[in-house]
Amino acid sequence: MKPVQLSPIVAGAWRMADWNWTKEQRLRWIEQCLERGVTSFDHADIYGNYSVEQLFGEALALRPELRSQMQLVSKCGIKLISDQRPEHHIKSYDHSKKHILNSVDQSLKALQTDHLDVLLLHRPSPLMHADEVAEAFSLLKAEGKVLHFGVSNFTPAQFDLLNSRFELVTNQIELSPLHLDPLHDGTLDQAQQLKAPPMVWSPLAQGRIFTEHSERAKRVRSTLEKLAQSLGVAVSTVVYAWILKHPARPIPITGSHRIEAIDEAVKALEVHLTDEQWFEVWQASQGHEVP
Ligand SMILES: NC(=O)c1ccc[n+]([C@@H]2O[C@H](COP(=O)([O-])OP(=O)(O)OC[C@H]3O[C@@H](n4cnc5c(N)ncnc54)[C@H](OP(=O)(O)O)[C@@H]3O)[C@@H](O)[C@H]2O)c1
Repeated sequence: MKPVQLSPIVAGAWRMADWNWTKEQRLRWIEQCLERGVTSFDHADIYGNYSVEQLFGEALALRPELRSQMQLVSKCGIKLISDQRPEHHIKSYDHSKKHILNSVDQSLKALQTDHLDVLLLHRPSPLMHADEVAEAFSLLKAEGKVLHFGVSNFTPAQFDLLNSRFELVTNQIELSPLHLDPLHDGTLDQAQQLKAPPMVWSPLAQGRIFTEHSERAKRVRSTLEKLAQSLGVAVSTVVYAWILKHPARPIPITGSHRIEAIDEAVKALEVHLTDEQWFEVWQASQGHEVP
């Protein structure tokens, strides 16, 4: 299988509905991302109460030729209680073949495209039938509607289960200096073992890197600030460099609407932390030195 080619920094569209932008502003943001080599965009059916894919698709329709220069990632499997989906009675997960196929059709329509580059199951469900998911994925691939498949927020065991039925290319996970779990729970070891680079969500802890008042966050912030000053780059650049240093080859997803913030992320591709600098951030987050 041709490996999935995502850009080393991906632009996240989760918050796009909150930006209250015109179509033209959304298009400009997409163009500016592309100009910076950020060619992959992360979506989910549910973002913005099921509205973001459509907001993006409307903007893309102004310049449809841009589709061939970008990769679109989307997700399915979470059912929100929403005026957009009156048939949902409780927030739940649905990994049935029917739901996956319907969700992809709706994503393609909203995004105004004929294929997704990557489809992810958004959250693991205790009721997931791996064979049924594999059947849905096989059909979507055969129809050319989705090129590659992955998961998000899966434990290594959950990833192994589905990967035993259908080859997965990524696990999209939370990782930041304020969320170290994947470094130690086997998630990143598995990604490295399988050579399946993980996509990383909330690399800046949803902005809490800059705003949280806990002792831990203050320690992390002052360490990041010291490193940023000595390297002559922004604090967020140090965070991205810290994530990018991991040997599993993580792909951070930015969440900002500001192009300067995207620039700060891209800048990290040229910044190489030493192992000791990396452990300074780890130590600040843990509150103790390595054993
Ligand atoms: N798979 C999943 O379960 C899952 C879950 C959550 C997110 N995601 C994906 O991951 C993407 C990124 O997540 P995220 O939005 O939480 O990422 P993030 O980069 O950790 O947080 C972005 C937020 O931090 C704010 N921020 C404050 N100061 C900033 C600075 N100096 N630089 C950059 N941002 C700053 C941004 O506001 P401004 O816009 O004002 O800069 C924005 O609201 C989402 O768009 C989505 O695609 C996936």
